[in-house]
Amino acid sequence: MNEIILKATDKLKDHPKRLKHVEGVAETAVLLAKVHDVDVEKARIAGYWHDTSKYDEIEIQIKDLDQDTILKYQDYPVIYHALAAAKTLEKEFDIHDDDLLNAIRHHVWGRSHMSNLEKIIFIADSCEPNRGFEDSDMIFNMAIQDLDEAVCYCMKQSIDHVIAKGKTPSQEQMEAYQYYMEETRGKIKNTH
Ligand SMILES: [Fe+2]
Ligand SMILES: [Fe+2]
Repeated sequence: MNEIILKATDKLKDHPKRLKHVEGVAETAVLLAKVHDVDVEKARIAGYWHDTSKYDEIEIQIKDLDQDTILKYQDYPVIYHALAAAKTLEKEFDIHDDDLLNAIRHHVWGRSHMSNLEKIIFIADSCEPNRGFEDSDMIFNMAIQDLDEAVCYCMKQSIDHVIAKGKTPSQEQMEAYQYYMEETRGKIKNTH
């Protein structure tokens, strides 16, 4: 397993800020995995590996994706690096653990019905401390208490960010957010 981390570190060696980020995601994900009884090694690997395709040329990122997938995300090419990273982990290390691969694939927008590992990577991507976001600690504490609440918050932040840039969030991203809004609303209701 250490081989994967070494390879991830090597792939990002010319991008020190990104390397710090993936280290932060891995550390944060490990802490959350321990709290929520999720496989710690998978959390660490997904954290290190999730952005390893970020600096590959787009042609490289899409080379193992099928045509439908390429077309589906042509207006949102940011998704390619996530799908590509899952592909390379599968190919280079013969890893076929769906949960681990899904956590990498869906780290940008998240999706509805995520596993706890997927939620943890999605949350850790936004709240790892090296990004220096003001609300990092708050998100982390929220995630210790309730992963769905933290997922919902991070999804909202991400959508607001897309809108602030003058872009339109994808339907897929909006649907995932809608799902977690419903999930967390249900929980709040049930406590009263
Ligand atoms: Fe990413
Ligand atoms: Fe990331």
